[in-house]
Amino acid sequence: MEALDAIEREVDGAFAPVRDEHELRATHARFLGKEGSLTLIMRRMPELAPAEKKTFGQAVNRVKTAVESASEAAEVRVKQAALARELDREPTDVTMPGRRPRVGRQHPLHRVLYDVTDIFVSMGFDVAEGPESDWETNNFERLGFPADHPALDMQDTFFLHNEGRPGPRALLRTHTSTVQIRELLSHPPPVMIVAPGTVFRCDDDATHSPMFAQIEGLVVDEGISLAHLRGTLATFAQRLFGKDVTTRMRGSYFPFTEPSVELDASCSLCGGRDPHCRLCKGSGWLEVAGAGMVDPVVLSNCGIDPEKYTGFAFGLGIDRLAMIRYQVPSIELLYSNDERFLRSL
Ligand code: PHE
Repeated sequence: MEALDAIEREVDGAFAPVRDEHELRATHARFLGKEGSLTLIMRRMPELAPAEKKTFGQAVNRVKTAVESASEAAEVRVKQAALARELDREPTDVTMPGRRPRVGRQHPLHRVLYDVTDIFVSMGFDVAEGPESDWETNNFERLGFPADHPALDMQDTFFLHNEGRPGPRALLRTHTSTVQIRELLSHPPPVMIVAPGTVFRCDDDATHSPMFAQIEGLVVDEGISLAHLRGTLATFAQRLFGKDVTTRMRGSYFPFTEPSVELDASCSLCGGRDPHCRLCKGSGWLEVAGAGMVDPVVLSNCGIDPEKYTGFAFGLGIDRLAMIRYQVPSIELLYSNDERFLRSL
């Protein structure tokens, strides 16, 4: 018990001069390490008579607690001193400007896609979607493309393996017109949808990319006429490009519309007044959409009575609209994801 009292008297004095972690650990070990004075004394417990063990055990615990709390107090002191030294060495400049986190934003193609979709939704269209890989029948046959039609060449695409099995072939859709079929097969008229999405073609030049985005429009009901198509697209063009924009329709051909038209909007850059305009190349017009009245064959292919219902459809190229809006000279710029370019738009 005397030896224990002696150890207890040593504790505070031993921890008082501790200045760093190393000294802290050494001092702690002096008492409670493998050869520490308290450890050695505890090992002698078995020598005691059972009656003495209790008093001795309590005394040992008291001294042990004293060591631990002195050690903890010293640790707090050591850490505070270290922090104070650190702050002394590198004073904080509270006037230094912060680092602004970089905030991302929508890709220009998505901005255009969402704006275009919003315009149609505000006119009462629903949004429909179809898969990017679809059956050949939805992409071609039901839309009135005969199997050997030359229009197929313009829409060559990537066919997905079906391991020599007979039956329908799957492909990466060449246009969002597949959604016309899916919609007509699953919903009876009236139908009024736009279908945005990614499409794929064997195309690659300054204004074409093998993967690009379209938005399809389809309206089928009783009494729908070409005038409805014209009015819808004219309103759309003014909302997107500005209220001074006018539109014109030219005759065209698509297997799934009759009659078929191309819709042009007056040049949003020069308004048709600059013969050297870099956007419209002096023509005064920008091609905006392929469109037409839904061919009766398409309606019958989908089980809809063409005597009762008529409709119009249109397809807009989102990439093209983005190139017009941001005056981007090459479509590649929209897909190469060079941040310097994207941030400039
Ligand atoms: N699907 C046609 C294309 O990709 C565009 C189009 C859609 C034309 C709807 C008419 C009606 O070229």
